[in-house]
Amino acid sequence: MNYELHPHYQHLRPLVDNIEHYFQQSSVVLHQARNELRVVEFADEAYVIKAFKIPHLINRFAYCYLRHSKAKRSYDYSLKLGAELCPEAVAYSESYKKGLLDKSYYISRHFQYDYTIRSVLNHTIEHYADVLQQFAGFTFKLHEKDILHRDYSPGNVLVKEQEEGVLFKVVDVNRMQFKKLTLKDRLFNFVRLTEDDRTLQIIISHYAELMQADKAQLLQQTIAYRDQYLNKRALKNKLRGR
Ligand SMILES: Nc1ncnc2c1ncn2[C@@H]1O[C@H](COP(=O)(O)OP(=O)(O)OP(=O)(O)O)[C@@H](O)[C@H]1O
Ligand SMILES: [Mg+2]
Repeated sequence: MNYELHPHYQHLRPLVDNIEHYFQQSSVVLHQARNELRVVEFADEAYVIKAFKIPHLINRFAYCYLRHSKAKRSYDYSLKLGAELCPEAVAYSESYKKGLLDKSYYISRHFQYDYTIRSVLNHTIEHYADVLQQFAGFTFKLHEKDILHRDYSPGNVLVKEQEEGVLFKVVDVNRMQFKKLTLKDRLFNFVRLTEDDRTLQIIISHYAELMQADKAQLLQQTIAYRDQYLNKRALKNKLRGR
């Protein structure tokens, strides 16, 4: 087994050493799709364990010898982002079988959020327009810090309402880029969020204000990128027979 445990969380060593056991015994399943996330209580605190799907053979080899596993990248990138922008990173662990990656886990602090940005994008939240504006501000802050979340989708932004304002945190951070962003990088980052132009307009208008750019032009460009993305996705699905 290969693992890293954050210095602040050394008291969690027994949890990391027996991660599979703790994961299996938890009955609080947060999310179950390709990967599975469960909440585990340990020493009176709640943590989220993300168990990654075991990749196909080629990637089991690649994640061993050519690139870091998703579990390690989640841990490294969360540390790089810092606790202000994502749930606090606690540890990751990887196990191997016959020299190939087998099970891998990423542990973070459980973040008690109110809803994901999905509920705002689909207007379930009554004051959605206000939260969308603040979300534009949050995204602008990420971009100004040279951060590109390459999986910026509705389930990956957690929202918590506080007296001081709305708090946003990103999850699913194994695909990040840290670099100066071009305008195209910035606008393309919004394409997976919504198919609704009016919703996009609320976000982009505020983003354009922060960039001191022309609102109509930025919106037109973002919609063009979004349509390009949707067409490409539709074509991919068609080729796969979905
Ligand atoms: N630290 C955390 N605190 C609270 N909730 C979390 C935390 N991490 C993840 N979640 C919840 O779990 C959900 C799924 O997490 P994540 O996005 O990392 O998985 P995923 O890779 O999208 O899974 P899949 O690809 O299988 O759909 C999030 O949308 C969020 O609701
Ligand atoms: Mg996700």
